Amino acid sequence: METANYGVGDASFRAAGGSDGIRAVVSRFYEYMDELTQARDVRAMHAADLHEVREKLIAFLCAWLGGPNEYRARFGPISIPGFHARFAIDEAERDAWLQCMASAVADQAWDASFKTYFMRAISIPAERVRVASVMRRGEP
Ligand code: HEM
Repeated sequence: METANYGVGDASFRAAGGSDGIRAVVSRFYEYMDELTQARDVRAMHAADLHEVREKLIAFLCAWLGGPNEYRARFGPISIPGFHARFAIDEAERDAWLQCMASAVADQAWDASFKTYFMRAISIPAERVRVASVMRRGEP
């Protein structure tokens, strides 16, 4: 089954259309973050100018999908949960972030199986981000 190969080597990076494809989905993602009412709180956690975070998320996702590790080369090592623990992220914020991503993914000319795979896969670090945020705040 094709889906089983997405985690292998750079298969996901290629399925996403390489760096250009990742740039397209991330650009759309931050447009939705600006537009969707349910993302208002999450948008407010970000800097007014999204240019820098857009470049960083593009670089991060290139490596995360099995492509070149542009994030480490340009910005150094990062722990995604550790970085996000400083923000107040609960289920609502996690789901709003994922909704922006799902809307952006829906706009791409990707294979349907890769869209499903991508959203399932990115839900995992999104949940880890929420847990790191909750633990940092010392909530049960
Ligand atoms: C779960 C919901 C999430 C929320 C609410 C969230 C929110 C944020 C915020 C507020 C920033 C800082 C932006 C700024 O300084 O302007 C940020 C940066 C970033 N986020 Fe997230 N994020 C989430 C999930 C994720 C996930 C799942 C990933 C990766 C798979 C990710 C990757 C990044 C990266 C790479 C940066 C830039 C880090 C840097 O400054 O070097 N985020 N995020």
